Amino acid sequence: MTLDEKIGQLNQMHYEDGAFLEENARKGLVGTVMSITNPIDFNRIQRIAVEESRLGIPLINARDVIHGFKTIFPIPLGQACSFDPDLVEQAARISAIEAAAAGIRWTFAPMVDISQDPRWGRIAEGCGEDPYLTSTLGASMVRGFQGNDLKDPSSIAACAKHFAGYGASESGKDYNSTFIAPNRFRNIYLRPFHSCVNNGVATIMTSFNDNDGIPSTGNKWLVKNILRDEWGYEGVVVTDWNAINEMVTHGYCEDIRSATLKAIDASVDIDMMSRAYIGYIKELIDDGLIDINQIDDAVRRILLLKHSLGLFESPYCDETLKSSVFYAPEHIRTAQKLAEESIVLLKNDATTLPFNSEIKKILVTGPLADAPYEQLGTWVFDGDAKHSITPLTALKDEFGAENIIFEPVLEYSRDTNLDRLKQIKEKAAEADIILAFVGEESILSGEAHSMASLSLQGAQSQLIKELSQTGKPVVMIVMAGRPLTIGDEIALSSAVLYSFAPGTMGGPAIVSTLIGKNNPSGKLPVTFPMTVGQIPIYYNHNNTGRPADGSEVTINDISVGTSQTSLGNKSYYLDFKECLYPFGFGMSYSDFSYSDLCLDKSEYQGNDSIIISFNLKNSSEVPGTEVVQVYIRDIHASLTRPVKELIHFERIAMDANDSKRISFSIPVNKLGYWLGNKYMTEPGKFDIFVGGNSEDCMKTSFQYN
Ligand code: BGC
Repeated sequence: MTLDEKIGQLNQMHYEDGAFLEENARKGLVGTVMSITNPIDFNRIQRIAVEESRLGIPLINARDVIHGFKTIFPIPLGQACSFDPDLVEQAARISAIEAAAAGIRWTFAPMVDISQDPRWGRIAEGCGEDPYLTSTLGASMVRGFQGNDLKDPSSIAACAKHFAGYGASESGKDYNSTFIAPNRFRNIYLRPFHSCVNNGVATIMTSFNDNDGIPSTGNKWLVKNILRDEWGYEGVVVTDWNAINEMVTHGYCEDIRSATLKAIDASVDIDMMSRAYIGYIKELIDDGLIDINQIDDAVRRILLLKHSLGLFESPYCDETLKSSVFYAPEHIRTAQKLAEESIVLLKNDATTLPFNSEIKKILVTGPLADAPYEQLGTWVFDGDAKHSITPLTALKDEFGAENIIFEPVLEYSRDTNLDRLKQIKEKAAEADIILAFVGEESILSGEAHSMASLSLQGAQSQLIKELSQTGKPVVMIVMAGRPLTIGDEIALSSAVLYSFAPGTMGGPAIVSTLIGKNNPSGKLPVTFPMTVGQIPIYYNHNNTGRPADGSEVTINDISVGTSQTSLGNKSYYLDFKECLYPFGFGMSYSDFSYSDLCLDKSEYQGNDSIIISFNLKNSSEVPGTEVVQVYIRDIHASLTRPVKELIHFERIAMDANDSKRISFSIPVNKLGYWLGNKYMTEPGKFDIFVGGNSEDCMKTSFQYN
């Protein structure tokens, strides 16, 4: 290969580069391309690379297939509510099958950024705040996208992104700087990436943020030392969009030439859209600043990926596949199942849900009851809203159109026009129940869509208030890309379902939950704050030297003129003591209770496994599934450790009036943490907790020697 041809492999271009892309493909000056979604177009450009370039090296076509290609699954944050690694894997498999039928063999997913900040719009794209849950589901997505063998034409390379720390963008503002100290970096933010690497992820994308002053794309400690040298990762690293150029804007590099040098030194292989590598690598080699071996290594990794994908033998995609795979019936069924498992029941007064036989006439309102595009959520380029089944359509199918009274009042989530409220009050008189579909339009979350207020937008709160005064039970169904601060609206509702953005089959999934065909089992993958001022808020915080125990005074207990005191003071807010809902929370129509937690021993050592056992009971007539959660606390360690850390979860199906003794075996050496570059389980006392959410747990303890 000539040097130009080598550099070409490191250069990624976009479909919209049009004739320029074709010219580069012909000259062998482009290695990968983004966003060709028509198989005929892809084959045409691939043919130029394979048949007209000197070496005939095939291109890889990449796309952001984040939560579905045509069939759209719930947003990843919604999928995470399922705590169902197998189903999440199936969804990724289906996404790969559909995308590959369009000529796409590489997705920029999964996004495994931990986020403790719902102001950040991209919280929608990840699995929430917990490193274990994100590690588990991230690995499922990698397996689903990549299949058993990357060579299979329905497999696509996955890309764990954004490496790393991006979810901690300060104040939740997108692209903002992060300041994550090294131990925290490893124990929270790097763990999901390590899990993806251990599960064979083919590619990794660097993130936009600078952490403690160093942009990831030029962070040698992160990419070269940790990812490659410590973890032994041999795959491809790609920058995020234009991220090499942005190192100049960050103020980290004087010009694009020096940014190029930083990226190459960090061992970043592919330049996404900066055109920096094609512009500067050659002269940096001539000036002796880049060693040709660095370029050869990067080229080798890219060619190996192409080889693993089988592109040298079969560079083209089958143009006829798409009609049989897009929106295939089994894809749609899986989309409904995952949407059902993603729904979280947050409140259910008395017998509001599921509907009883007296519910005949239903008043359907709110801007998201019939919003086929909005229910798909962020990062949907290819899924067609025409295929969405909205709640309104599904309700009409279930109850007959004549029994559904529809008055959205608000056209979209930011609408402030309440002129149609009068009509709705009259219509409420005819109805047995009111369903209010509120939340966020899809464009209000996702990349560059951060929000400083997490209240319901527009006049939605007012709508809920007015509905609550009709005397009819109000069920609030929230579709959103993030947790919203909706405590007041919840208080005014008889029941609340949170579905995040549920995707193509959101409507049928919600309706099957309302009528009890689906018994909700979803659990929150993030802590819901009461108010924005509590953010960042997360269950796995450290204890501090002055932990609050709930008995502290509140603002109203303090009399005017009280003199300054710090005695007995604790770490808490005077005005908001609690979160709205804790991590792992979610109700069911069944009635689960836990008892008799015990361990097989009280002391463990070396590589022992802890056998945890307990009773789980369903004391209702309704069969259901409970997501059982196991947490630990390492009481004393060389670093202060969180008050709780999720270490295991399982979905347990229970019959009506069922009782089971459940046991799990957990290797004790899985309970450690990173101190510098060492992972260890330190001897000492540990608490272990088992329950249905991170707050309500049984507790016991053991000693690790
Ligand atoms: C996003 C990435 C995405 C890339 C390519 C960037 O703006 O941060 O997540 O994969 O664009 O579309």
